[in-house]
Amino acid sequence: MTPASDPSPTPVVQVRGMDFCYGASTALFDINLQVEYHRVTALIGPSGCGKSTLLRCINRMNDRVSGARVTKGEVLVKGKNIHDDDVDLTQLRKQVGMVFQKSNPFPKSIYENVAYGLRVHGVKAKDILDEAVERGLRSAALWDELKDRLNQNALGLSGGQQQRLCIARAIATRPDVLLMDEPCSALDPIATLKIEELMHQLAREFTVIIVTHNMQQAVRVSDFTAFLHLGKLIEFGETEEIFSNPREKLTESYLRGTFS
Ligand SMILES: Nc1ncnc2c1ncn2[C@@H]1O[C@H](COP(=O)(O)OP(=O)(O)OP(=O)(O)O)[C@@H](O)[C@H]1O
Ligand SMILES: [Mg+2]
Repeated sequence: MTPASDPSPTPVVQVRGMDFCYGASTALFDINLQVEYHRVTALIGPSGCGKSTLLRCINRMNDRVSGARVTKGEVLVKGKNIHDDDVDLTQLRKQVGMVFQKSNPFPKSIYENVAYGLRVHGVKAKDILDEAVERGLRSAALWDELKDRLNQNALGLSGGQQQRLCIARAIATRPDVLLMDEPCSALDPIATLKIEELMHQLAREFTVIIVTHNMQQAVRVSDFTAFLHLGKLIEFGETEEIFSNPREKLTESYLRGTFS
């Protein structure tokens, strides 16, 4: 299968010297982050440090919050500044898909949930929709479980299946980047494990950026880790390196749980 993202020496996401404010209050300070193609990057750090805010900057989801804006620096996706005047938000969100903490399937059939993004983009041909639904469900490791129930309502699925369906929906339009904000925090350990297993598989086709509170999860699923504290990116590097040999005292005390 052709990867959705072209492997290229240019990072797929580049955040350069970005400050981000909610009204008068600055939530992110001078963030610099480069995300490589086909890697899983984890964003970790204490509650309120700005993980979700940073994640939402990458597909301009924060635009929905009144008074929220980037006040310095820039965000590039595949080399293109996402705040340029000619950027189409629908296209950007097709390119940078998102999965939320709480699964949010539509009260429609399993098939229509996965086909949704294609329909929004005007695809009507049944063979194309069928193929995209199958491919999305396969990539989310759901095809075998659900192939005989495609017309059933998605709200009848288990919590873990619903979250994987949301992943299938997000990837059906072949985004370059998949943003995941604590996708497992509402799931039991078995459903969590299924999603963790999926993560490496997803990275073969997409680039994944995941926010997680669970340190073991970050170690298990990510290639790179960014540690944030009070709106600043304190340390970024290979996950193995960050967890075994952090450069910054702050990272070390957070990972040891001796954070004050
Ligand atoms: N919609 C908003 N309006 C105003 N301030 C906000 C808004 N969303 C977040 N903030 C503030 O921005 C800062 C970063 O919040 P954010 O939600 O990004 O943190 P987080 O690291 O994701 O936290 P958590 O781990 O609890 O989800 C916090 O001080 C928060 O209060
Ligand atoms: Mg958050």
